Amino acid sequence: MLSHEETKILCETNAGTPMGELFRRFWIPVLISEELPEPDCTPVATKILGEDLLAFRDTNGKVGLVSAYCAHRHAKLFWGRNEECGLRCTYHGWKYDVNGNCVDMPNELAENEFKDKVKIQSYPTKEAGACIWAYMGPKELEPAEIPYLEWARVPDSHVQVTKRLQENNWAQATEGGIDSSHISYLHNSDLDNITPSTADKSPVMQIALRDFGFIEAGRRVQPDGKHYWRIRPVMAPSFMMIPSSDKPDRNIGGHVWIPIDDTHCWAYTMTWNATRPLTQEERDKNLEGYGIHCEVDKNATRWDLNISSAWSPIRNLDNNYMIDRAVQKTGTFTGIKGIGEQDCSIQESMGGMSPRWEEHLGTSDRGIILFRKMVMGLARDLMEGNEPELAHAPEKFKVRSTGFTIDADADWIAEAEKHMVSTV
Ligand code: FES
Ligand SMILES: [Fe+2]
Repeated sequence: MLSHEETKILCETNAGTPMGELFRRFWIPVLISEELPEPDCTPVATKILGEDLLAFRDTNGKVGLVSAYCAHRHAKLFWGRNEECGLRCTYHGWKYDVNGNCVDMPNELAENEFKDKVKIQSYPTKEAGACIWAYMGPKELEPAEIPYLEWARVPDSHVQVTKRLQENNWAQATEGGIDSSHISYLHNSDLDNITPSTADKSPVMQIALRDFGFIEAGRRVQPDGKHYWRIRPVMAPSFMMIPSSDKPDRNIGGHVWIPIDDTHCWAYTMTWNATRPLTQEERDKNLEGYGIHCEVDKNATRWDLNISSAWSPIRNLDNNYMIDRAVQKTGTFTGIKGIGEQDCSIQESMGGMSPRWEEHLGTSDRGIILFRKMVMGLARDLMEGNEPELAHAPEKFKVRSTGFTIDADADWIAEAEKHMVSTV
């Protein structure tokens, strides 16, 4: 349980808030690279950490992430012309480069040199893991590298990233991703048969602190007495990997949740394989909402949030997530198709920013409690002038999730460590 004040510290991420400043110390994904597919393509209006931004790929292929608004009279640059290494406002023709510099001001006399005094906000970007990343913090504190997350280091052929706009705060979504016990319920897709995840519906949660954050381990006793362990690395500020298997060539899934504003977030979902390219069939299935990916309308606009392509889930609150009550009676626990959609239905139902002061947390919520402690501790430290070391230690993110079944008396930590070594 958190107080009103603590909930605000956890959830609010506009500039100047403790958590907002913490996010502004890390490189974070802000778009999927395919959203800007080629030089001089259509720009994307987006919102990150409460800031209205415009992303565009210039003639040389460089990505700019700049203020969504023209410095002249606040017109939206989204309607602009992306041409000759800059984005030109269609109101009076002012033009900006990827660094936010005004490089042309055709409606003013050149001898006034007014354009040299005008600049809009811009943030540095990098591309990795099929994503465009940005650093939105103080220039002098910019980390040299993005985190060495496995999915961000494999070739683009080995990774697929999708995202969805979620109608709730980033921390609520992250807590949903950390919460291991819900998979026996919310994601039970076969009421008639027992799976390793549903054999034991009262999993025991174990936590192990690590220098990237912590691992949450869910233990489920199987009918033969063995223990099925699901091992989930959780990294500040909001990176997580879904428990996978112990096969070296396994596909692995993960998420990162990026605040849009205090009551909306981007839920990024990635699938990768460290040893081989993903097949076209795997990619097509993910786009159809397979596994942890959501089926979305990439081009849906959300101008109420100043977002030009919202990746809105097809099954959403407006259509009751297309819940099938007959299926809910006999087939699946929810009657809602898709793991991501099941998560949305519940996480969005908790409100834009769920009232943590009304909760009753149990032992199954240990991971959530620790997550809050971790990020709120980092945010408070930062407010006291202590910068997060993790932001400058990208190698600490080199880890992968796992999952395995072992004898009841076997050492789960030792087994987990064997399979959590990142090979890229
Ligand atoms: S408002 Fe953009 S050039 Fe005038
Ligand atoms: Fe879930």
